[in-house]
Amino acid sequence: MTSALTRRELLAKCAALGTLTVGASLLLPTVLAAWEEQEKALKPTPWNELGPFYRRQAPHVRNLRAAGDPGLPVSVSGRVFNVRGDAVPNAKVEIWQTNHAGRYDINGYRYRSTLNADKSGKYAFDSVVPGHYPGRVCQHIHYLVTADGHKPLTTQLYFATDPVFDGDPDKNFTRDPLITSRELVRPVTITGDPKAMLAAVTFEIVLERL
Ligand SMILES: [Fe+2]
Repeated sequence: MTSALTRRELLAKCAALGTLTVGASLLLPTVLAAWEEQEKALKPTPWNELGPFYRRQAPHVRNLRAAGDPGLPVSVSGRVFNVRGDAVPNAKVEIWQTNHAGRYDINGYRYRSTLNADKSGKYAFDSVVPGHYPGRVCQHIHYLVTADGHKPLTTQLYFATDPVFDGDPDKNFTRDPLITSRELVRPVTITGDPKAMLAAVTFEIVLERL
């Protein structure tokens, strides 16, 4: 069972009740902050910029790919966690991307969605691998993730198969100057058959508490 108190509040309660004692040379708030930091099971998902193409209130659609849309179909899924590794229920996951040719729908909501993660933090959507567009080096999907009690996260998902990386994202991810972290470049799994291939990408989100 997860406590309603934050870890820091629980430790402060321990200190107040005398089950935690801090050495005379240490300040309690400093100890609590350092303790909480050391207990983090997961690193927060790195921030990446919002960009100019965000639109509020995209519809709740799970399938962004209309029948006959060109491009490689991709299924993206993941879970939303906090830094302690607990699932964050009911997060709002807003995503937006270009179509396969690198064009954003700036008047409507094609390839845009507001997803509701479920009670176990799961979210998923079907789309196509986005294209490249002038001004940006790599293919990417934008994310804005919000959940009660957590800091909003703006980030972007990249594809390890992006030709820009020459097959070696470890070495080449900095070819896109906006990629702040290698972790944002996700591996791609192909399933199906050559006539109906489906790419699958997993992207876990780790939010910091407010
Ligand atoms: Fe973009």
